[in-house]
Amino acid sequence: MLARVPRGGLVPLLRQTCRHFGALPAEELSGAASAEQQQFIDREDRYGAHNYAPVPVVLTRGEGVHVWDVDGKKYYDFLSAYSAVNQGHCHPKIVSALIDQVPRLSLTSRAFYNDVLGEYEEYITKLFGYDKVLPMNTGVEGGETAIKLARRWGYDVKGVPKNQAKVLFAEDNFWGRTLAAISSSTDPESFGGFGPFMPGFEVIPYNDLKALEAKLEADPNIVAFMVEPIQGEAGIVIPDPGYLAGAQKLLKEHNALLIADEVQTGLARTGRMLASEYGGVHPDILVLGKALSGGVYPVSAVLANDEVMLTIKRGQHGSTYGGNPVAAKVALAALQVIVDENLVDNSYKLGQLLRHELQAIQSRIITEVRGKGLLNAVVVRPDVSPSAWDICLRLKENGLLAKPTHGNIIRLAPPLTLTEEQLLECADIFRRTILSFPQ
Ligand SMILES: Cc1ncc(COP(=O)(O)O)c(C=O)c1O
Repeated sequence: MLARVPRGGLVPLLRQTCRHFGALPAEELSGAASAEQQQFIDREDRYGAHNYAPVPVVLTRGEGVHVWDVDGKKYYDFLSAYSAVNQGHCHPKIVSALIDQVPRLSLTSRAFYNDVLGEYEEYITKLFGYDKVLPMNTGVEGGETAIKLARRWGYDVKGVPKNQAKVLFAEDNFWGRTLAAISSSTDPESFGGFGPFMPGFEVIPYNDLKALEAKLEADPNIVAFMVEPIQGEAGIVIPDPGYLAGAQKLLKEHNALLIADEVQTGLARTGRMLASEYGGVHPDILVLGKALSGGVYPVSAVLANDEVMLTIKRGQHGSTYGGNPVAAKVALAALQVIVDENLVDNSYKLGQLLRHELQAIQSRIITEVRGKGLLNAVVVRPDVSPSAWDICLRLKENGLLAKPTHGNIIRLAPPLTLTEEQLLECADIFRRTILSFPQ
């Protein structure tokens, strides 16, 4: 996530972060980088923009649920590149798909047809039950595409007057870093200092059907509500059971679309192929990304039925790389791995076990463990020591990589290929780490 990094590099940043979250004094921190790793960190710090605040570890290799740092130390990866690596690092089938396709034909642009895209389009639309897919690259481009579709549908089908379409978002949403995405953000870290913002966006509280109903009743120009079925970056926030179904019902009554942003929650992460299934809904527009390539390539997709999708006509939207042959082959392989290896069931089953193990830890430090499947949050008592950051540094020392989100929440999202035995080992690392702090 973006953070303001002070001049002078990462060490001052760590101190600042620690102070900010009531963390241990710097001298008590274990988890500083080795001299060799520090050289890599200093180089990035010197030549790269300071828009991220990474955990101080320099990785060089990944395989399955593990990654290795440049000193040869092995870790469990409990972030999975923000849920892009659901299939495990460098999955051989996905990597082969990439390696086979790259020397054959890597990019044509959509100025021409290629012999790969259609097969992927047929597979993904049948898998998720939509008429059509629009391929893009990053998650945020998927969100932008979904909003353009909703606006166009609003004008062409719903009959909204020109330039009057409105799209609703939920508080604490996160769907990326473009100007449109931050225009709907309620996080000052995201939007502060970047205005002016996109018009036609409004924000309502998450998990609040009354607020949605009030907006829909007040404004006939609302064309869509874009929402994460479980809010990821906000800290794994799970809505009430009837929320999504209630939202879709209200939207239907007011002739507006439900856009599900499943960039983080989709593709087996939450123990269902889509987290929308928990809510019992089939969204009008579905946005996928991240694990759609298993982490080897940026691939995103927007799915919808013809009534919505065909409102955008030929030449009216696109991307040079969107739907390229490598992306198509990679995404096809990534989806097939999820299906063939039954990652939905594994995610569901191991998620239950992980929460059971973590909830059994008796400690003043943890106030809540929540999640669905293998998308989980451990809430750390705020404003006392240790902070979530301190805990992540010590987890790193103990061989497990995780990162705080929203200050005092640690997200636990390992690759879905984790085995039960590995999960129990990880739960033990977590328990030992928590209990190593003064209780
Ligand atoms: C729910 C959600 N939507 C969209 C995005 C943006 O994806 P990308 O970073 O690939 O643009 C993210 C990224 O974390 C996300 O969590």
